[in-house]
Amino acid sequence: MRAAPGGGTGRRTSRVGKVPVNDFEIPYLEVGRRAVLRFVAKALPSVGFVGMMVSARREKGPGLHMSTPAGALVSREAQSWAVRGYATAVTALRDPHLVVARPGQSEQDGRHGDQPPTARSGPSTNDGAPSVPEFFQSWFTVGSAHGAVKGVLARPFAARQIERFATVVAELARLRVDRLPDDGDLVGDCLVPFSVDCAAALTGIPAGEANRLMAVTRLMTAAFHGVARGADEPLRQCVRYLRAVTGHLLTADEGTPLAGALREVAAELGEWTATAVLAQLLTAGVEPTVTGAALTCRELARDPGLPERAPLERIADEALRRTPPFPRVHRTTAARCGCLGVRIEAGERVVVDIEAANHDPAVFGDGRFDPSRTAQPLTFGLGAYHCLGAAFARMQISAVVAALARPEARVAPADLILRRTAHTVVATAMPFRRTAGAARG
Ligand code: HEM
Repeated sequence: MRAAPGGGTGRRTSRVGKVPVNDFEIPYLEVGRRAVLRFVAKALPSVGFVGMMVSARREKGPGLHMSTPAGALVSREAQSWAVRGYATAVTALRDPHLVVARPGQSEQDGRHGDQPPTARSGPSTNDGAPSVPEFFQSWFTVGSAHGAVKGVLARPFAARQIERFATVVAELARLRVDRLPDDGDLVGDCLVPFSVDCAAALTGIPAGEANRLMAVTRLMTAAFHGVARGADEPLRQCVRYLRAVTGHLLTADEGTPLAGALREVAAELGEWTATAVLAQLLTAGVEPTVTGAALTCRELARDPGLPERAPLERIADEALRRTPPFPRVHRTTAARCGCLGVRIEAGERVVVDIEAANHDPAVFGDGRFDPSRTAQPLTFGLGAYHCLGAAFARMQISAVVAALARPEARVAPADLILRRTAHTVVATAMPFRRTAGAARG
């Protein structure tokens, strides 16, 4: 798409012209710095819109950004379609033409947006283990068995099954909070180990593995975000370790429902696929849950009276709405489609801006922190790739926040330090100290 003529000059005069969008010449009326494009019915035969009005505006920089009434933006310089409005985001997330591409298929694809280190860590090893890039590429989300594997995993992740872990999760939260030092970092000292404990409990991994599992989860997550350069050998060890853990889960006499699901996956698709599922659950699940818990703690520190006005889960949902840990999710068009109101060819990239959709004033009004909202944010995604762990994440966040809020815990967190990568928001630290009454001496 070329920029509309006269772009970025700041002229105030109005004039009529044409701009090519996909294969169409779209008449537009330029008014000062803003241009208004009129899609006439005959100009859009492939998507069949009649008299559709599209407004285009030039943002700072060289690219032309076009918005349809439904809120799809096209950004020329990023070579992708950016979806920002809530309604269009819902359409995009539900559309079967828009799929998650295998990491490495294009430079911007990737599970949850960030880029695993494809092709950096070399080929498969001679002991039959996949290389780390191959391992990431075997995530069930990007494979042809996505629907089938998700169907199997959906059972142990169903709200009713997750509810059975409520007591265990609450107990794990209290244990981690009670073990906190008198001052430290809430993220590293409590939230990360707690979330790994929970993942282990759900899967049936023995508690004695907690430390190793945490180290493995952290390194795998860093590698997945492409920030573990030079750690090829440790990563290979992580992969082997997870394979051994999976082997244990597959052969254990008794197991959790999730271990049962892993067994089903292994029987159908092999043990390495089951290992990759376990790795994906740890990589996809721990970090955003930690961020969600930290964000919720921050809201409660700002307004300690909140729990009297709303349940903890609603507070967590609202904190996550405003700062979703995955602010953008990526799709590739499997086939030509017109779901966003314009024609998109096969193989094009679409970025769904969850954060923008979660702030759409048409749905969420003025954006104030309001846990009594009823509109459903898109924090956990929607459609075929909807988060499997949403109920589990909510449970964990509520449990750890409740444990921290006990009078005997007396934990006073200071500022939350968040790191924004290209496509994630990660809680990196939250310094805290115990208030005088609870300090151990
Ligand atoms: C606050 C915490 C969490 C947030 C905000 C979150 C968010 C998301 C989002 C937005 C997606 C969809 C990505 C897309 O559309 O491309 C997703 C998918 C996924 N999440 Fe979560 N998640 C969280 C916790 C968890 C937990 C605890 C687990 C598991 C233990 C988990 C496992 C998954 C998996 C396996 C997928 C892929 C689903 C698929 O491919 O169909 N998540 N998550």
